[in-house]
Amino acid sequence: MTMKKDIRSLLDLTEADFKRLFERAITLKARHKAGTAERPLAGKTLGLLFEKASTRTRISFEAGMAQLGGTPIYISTKDTQMARNEPIKDTARVLSRYLDVLAIRTYKQSVIEEFAEHSDIPVINALSDLYHPCQVLSDLMTVIEVKGGYEGRQIVWIGDGNNVAHSWINAAAVLGFDLTLACPEGHFPDDKILKNAQEKGRGAIRVITDPIEAVKDADVINTDVWASMGQEEEAETRKKIFVPYQVNAELMKRAPGTAMVLHCLPAHREEEITEEVLEGPASAVWDQAENKMHMHKAILETLLGS
Ligand code: CP
Ligand code: NVA
Repeated sequence: MTMKKDIRSLLDLTEADFKRLFERAITLKARHKAGTAERPLAGKTLGLLFEKASTRTRISFEAGMAQLGGTPIYISTKDTQMARNEPIKDTARVLSRYLDVLAIRTYKQSVIEEFAEHSDIPVINALSDLYHPCQVLSDLMTVIEVKGGYEGRQIVWIGDGNNVAHSWINAAAVLGFDLTLACPEGHFPDDKILKNAQEKGRGAIRVITDPIEAVKDADVINTDVWASMGQEEEAETRKKIFVPYQVNAELMKRAPGTAMVLHCLPAHREEEITEEVLEGPASAVWDQAENKMHMHKAILETLLGS
């Protein structure tokens, strides 16, 4: 028996795991388009235990599981006994008796860790306040498609040092590409995550405050909302602080003409990104969103040992 594998964060994956997932997701996408996909997960069940809203992650996991022949079950946390304080360790053991794999979207990273500890089935982080690992896997898949690879590429993050930024930092630590984050003072990424990555990372990972300096040699420019789920009360204050960090035509002029733009979505037009850039030629956001489904299929196949 092999030990079950969880994806609590990207630090659970080796460089070889990343590469296998990229290769497999690209193959699954091609097979889906050619109409030659197989259904290796027939009889398997994926639970999606979500405490926060989701369009892409939820539907792409559900559709992906269905495409693989398996069955997804969406579980809103508020409709479970967890909402009435049933302990996580009890919920985890019971769900392990019904399901084959469990994806969780929640606030506290500790909820994912506790589920992973007490579940007999693989647990996938489908976004926490700290990380969004599956997002960055599909984002890197998009970089591979558009740029031919991430090695030697300058990847840039503009805006909040948030959950998605943390997963980019973890990815850079394992894969060794250069990552520059431009964030306002007070909204830098978590210091521990950053230091750990800088110590491990083969590529240079740096945080600066100047977005213009950051995009100078960029191959990939990433951004995300200024207020993440759970930060709604800070949204108005953040809107003021983050103004210089908008990805707009002016900023794009400071970047090489070949730079691509990514945004995990949902986007707030004219806040972190302008309509012009989001819908412009540098933007790969719709392919990026599509790729989530194929990456999720690769993840499910891998964790279920198929
Ligand atoms: N990018 C992403 O995770 O989107 P959803 O919140 O719609 O799942
Ligand atoms: N940082 C955002 C990502 C949404 C997919 C949030 O956590 O709300």
